[in-house]
Amino acid sequence: MIHAITCEQLFQDNKIIPVIVLNDVNKAVSIARALLLGGISIMEVTLRTPNALAIIKTIAQEVPEMIVGAGTVLNDEQYHRAVDHDAKFIVSPGLTGKLAAVHLTYDIPFLPGAVTPSEIMQALLLGFKYLKFFPSESYNGCSTLKSLAAPFSEVKFCPTGGINLDNMQKYLSLPNVVGVGCSFLVTDELVKQNNFNQITVAAQQALSAIL
Ligand code: 3PG
Repeated sequence: MIHAITCEQLFQDNKIIPVIVLNDVNKAVSIARALLLGGISIMEVTLRTPNALAIIKTIAQEVPEMIVGAGTVLNDEQYHRAVDHDAKFIVSPGLTGKLAAVHLTYDIPFLPGAVTPSEIMQALLLGFKYLKFFPSESYNGCSTLKSLAAPFSEVKFCPTGGINLDNMQKYLSLPNVVGVGCSFLVTDELVKQNNFNQITVAAQQALSAIL
């Protein structure tokens, strides 16, 4: 169980966050163990499926070495439910006043999304300096993040959306990028095939790509 970890600490040890869309609870532990075996000890389970919360709880209980968080958290109710299901961090594609308020009631990292200067200024106003940048490739991520560095020197970003083996190092070499999120490590196809070995290989390949 992580107590009072900050976003800074989270990204110090974890540069690649696999983003998972999964509904089959029975596969959750195998996926988490496959990622761990490949050297990745963090994963974001998106709240896009009926069983996502059960999956988070299962991984938290059965694979305690894995830092499992909830993604696609769009409102305060989902935030509460994710924490109730043992999510160790929360990710949202955006930010609302209600999400900012509920964040203050828990002791876990929250990574809200912001892309435009006004969104970033609003996030700073609400106390957030670590931000998700989504959907990154659609916003010409590397170039845009470079441009955002000058006016927002204190902000650190975790781009997601279109991150792959070929571009992740380019993103991570930017001084204002602390990590990247990506779904290609745990694909629907690999999960359907129960090809957990390949998830381990994909995690190893991703870590090699950023060394
Ligand atoms: C998401 O929320 O779906 C993530 O940003 C992952 O995006 P990707 O599928 O392009 O990696």
